[in-house]
Amino acid sequence: MRLVVVGAMSTNVNRTKSPTRRAFLGWWIAGLLGATVASVVAPLTVYLFPPRGANQGIGKIRVALGTSLANIAEGSAVRFDSPAGMAFTMADGGEANAAGDPTFGGFVTRDRGTLRAFAITCPHLGCSYAYDDGLRHFLCPCHGSQFALDGSIVHGPATSPLSHLTWRPGAAADEIEIDGMTLAN
Ligand code: FES
Repeated sequence: MRLVVVGAMSTNVNRTKSPTRRAFLGWWIAGLLGATVASVVAPLTVYLFPPRGANQGIGKIRVALGTSLANIAEGSAVRFDSPAGMAFTMADGGEANAAGDPTFGGFVTRDRGTLRAFAITCPHLGCSYAYDDGLRHFLCPCHGSQFALDGSIVHGPATSPLSHLTWRPGAAADEIEIDGMTLAN
């Protein structure tokens, strides 16, 4: 009778210890897997959510046009570039361009009395276009797209108009301020 009781107690002890070991093993494996996944994913988050550097910010970029806004003639365009280490941000987009995208130059145009500023990045595939004074059109050298002074499409393959820049007159007569960003080193 005693032997039978002792055997039963021994069985109970084994039953209580077994789940604890299994659980510990499960936690250990889960921890190991978690650490492995974290070590792979953590470096990728830098690219997915890039940290904003101390010198990277959004603000207004002052640009000297070399001519006063009042002197920009009807049907003409004045080119400007962003200062070193800075980029303008597009106000809108289409095709390869999107609002918030950086661009490193642009044009101020006067068309039927209205002044506009456009990003120099072609919406088709991102080349920089130029202004043809004779045609009074913007011409893209890469695939031949043409745009009017108001940014609309004259000729494809581009299917979207030019992207605007958000701008305002600056303190000086030949100066404008454009929304942009300072680039991190
Ligand atoms: S990039 Fe301008 S037409 Fe293709």
